[in-house]
Amino acid sequence: MEIRIVKDYGEMSKKAADVVAAQIIEKPDSVLGLATGSTPIGMYKELVRMYEEGIIDFSKVVTFNLDEYVGLDEKNEQSYHFYMMQNLFKHINIDMKNVHILDGNAKDIDKECSNYEGEIEKAGGIDLQILGLGRNGHIGFNEPDVKFPKNTHIVDLSESTIEANSRFFRNAEEVPKQALTMGEATIMKADRIILLANGSAKADAVFGLVKGDIKPELPASALQMHPDAVVIVDKEAASKLEG
Ligand code: GLP
Repeated sequence: MEIRIVKDYGEMSKKAADVVAAQIIEKPDSVLGLATGSTPIGMYKELVRMYEEGIIDFSKVVTFNLDEYVGLDEKNEQSYHFYMMQNLFKHINIDMKNVHILDGNAKDIDKECSNYEGEIEKAGGIDLQILGLGRNGHIGFNEPDVKFPKNTHIVDLSESTIEANSRFFRNAEEVPKQALTMGEATIMKADRIILLANGSAKADAVFGLVKGDIKPELPASALQMHPDAVVIVDKEAASKLEG
């Protein structure tokens, strides 16, 4: 696992966008795993800029999002479907047939999850997975647990995640209690991974991810075992790594 400590959010976003752009230039039909949350917004802005300047072309790119809340309609502004349209897809030339996001309203959840795994496999697997980091060390919506969850599955969100994500909703009661997420194994199967984190609220999770024991209580720690994972963090998020 490689750690890149950068000065601030802007530099983190640029560095991450450069990795994604290089991947697309090298392989125009790349399969990307995409993340949501506030962290990657700057990276998506950079990617849109690069697209507008003709540096990258998304016409053959295939995407799989990490996760989605259960029970939110895709037009709901807090859904990750809506987020992806607003922050990336509506600004670029991606073919929407190549976009995959879990359906949190699926009637048959198990089927939805196993189909998603099948679709990823059919696409040839994920070339580059982008990750954010929950304050409690979660990746996607893989919450701290006693075992590493494997494939795409439904999860009960922890109190700390509901509280952290309530800033996007009117209040904590509105935050869905469940989500669908790629599992740890789905994520670990990606050829390359970049994880982004910024701000002091992520410092403990970054410490656990980089220097802690590999344990399901800190889901991101599994990345220590990945052969090609790069962690891009700003100084504040990296503040507990020194010493
Ligand atoms: C959510 C998402 C994660 C994301 C995390 C951090 O729970 N499911 O994929 O990485 O929050 O969010 P933020 O970037 O807003 O801190």
